[in-house]
Amino acid sequence: MNIRLRLHHLAIAAGLVVSSTLLPAQAQTAPVKVGLVLSLTGPFASTGKQIESGARLYLAQHGDVAAGRKIEFVIKDDGGVPDQAKRMAQEMVVNDKVDVLGGFVLTPLALAVAPIATQGKTPAIVMSAGTSSVIDASPYFVRVSFTLPQNSVGVAEWAPKNGIKNVVTLVSDYGPGIDAEVSFKKRFEARGGVVKEAIRVPVRNPDFSPFLQKVRDEKPDAVFVFLPAGVGTQFMKQFAARGLDKAGIRLIGTGDVTEDDILNDMGDVAMGVVTSHHYSAAHPSPENQAFVEAFKKANGGKRPNYMAVAGYDGMRVLVHALKATQGKGGEALLNAMKGQSFDSPRGPVEIDAQTRDIVQNVYIRRVERKDGELYNVEFDVMKAVRDPGRGN
Ligand code: DHB
Repeated sequence: MNIRLRLHHLAIAAGLVVSSTLLPAQAQTAPVKVGLVLSLTGPFASTGKQIESGARLYLAQHGDVAAGRKIEFVIKDDGGVPDQAKRMAQEMVVNDKVDVLGGFVLTPLALAVAPIATQGKTPAIVMSAGTSSVIDASPYFVRVSFTLPQNSVGVAEWAPKNGIKNVVTLVSDYGPGIDAEVSFKKRFEARGGVVKEAIRVPVRNPDFSPFLQKVRDEKPDAVFVFLPAGVGTQFMKQFAARGLDKAGIRLIGTGDVTEDDILNDMGDVAMGVVTSHHYSAAHPSPENQAFVEAFKKANGGKRPNYMAVAGYDGMRVLVHALKATQGKGGEALLNAMKGQSFDSPRGPVEIDAQTRDIVQNVYIRRVERKDGELYNVEFDVMKAVRDPGRGN
């Protein structure tokens, strides 16, 4: 029997609780548990699945051992319900003893988990939730996804230079939608545009028809749209059914509305839609081409969207932090996540060491048909954009 095991047995015989601090070497070779809180059922399930597939792909490609510790997932489905997300994060921290939390498909889910990360001193990697203020909800949050102000200002600058002088905004009525509405308006009006009307639609099961009728009546040059991932197809169908395209009203937005998971099913109505966003499956870099190919191979031909990239990059940030701390968790791991910069499939990114938020390129893209499939084809870029929602 080795000395460690003998000590362990003696301690148990003496009725002592053996904590990992008594056995640091053992603690560091124990698996690293990553608790992913994801929506895998309900209206936002496609996002949860994209994140999970992206995270799994990173480990499949780069190995699931870092600093001698095997990386294991504990995955729970919050169904898109904040109370569930909170309870699941708590179970993961208290019962499963996860070293890291991650996921959070919607802003309210990240906000619900924030106090658990803070109380447990557990680093938590935000892989979706794009409201600016999410990053302030816990000092243990690190964001690898995006913010809505980041993704709104690109098209706000492009539009007035391209014949769009007045706009109606139409957004989902919650954190990221309001961030998109406010940051678009601020930048668009600073460049001489006018927002005629700001419409907010329900987050769950929205019927867009009455809102689209209102847009039609206003006759703006364009409608600027933010809707969370997975909802865009329904919107596009109703946009065409109401004849807005025929009425000459252009459609612009953040790239969430033409996201890669569903874009190809949207049909001709999506052609020519201009959006700004941090990721396109058509991003022409070798890193991205390899990523898209590997993702499709591992997922029955499905195309990755920006959620998959965040799951993938989230694991990259974790693995490199573990290597830097030689397998230590907690505060040390959190600190090693801050300040990382690397080439993501989306392009160059950095986790700002002070804000813990992502700094990345925002591309201006137009939906085009390429080899018989619809893609967001990038034609311009704003480099290294910090979240404009926090006064930068
Ligand atoms: C959020 C969710 C999304 O699916 C998205 O595309 C953008 C933001 C959110 O809830 O923060």
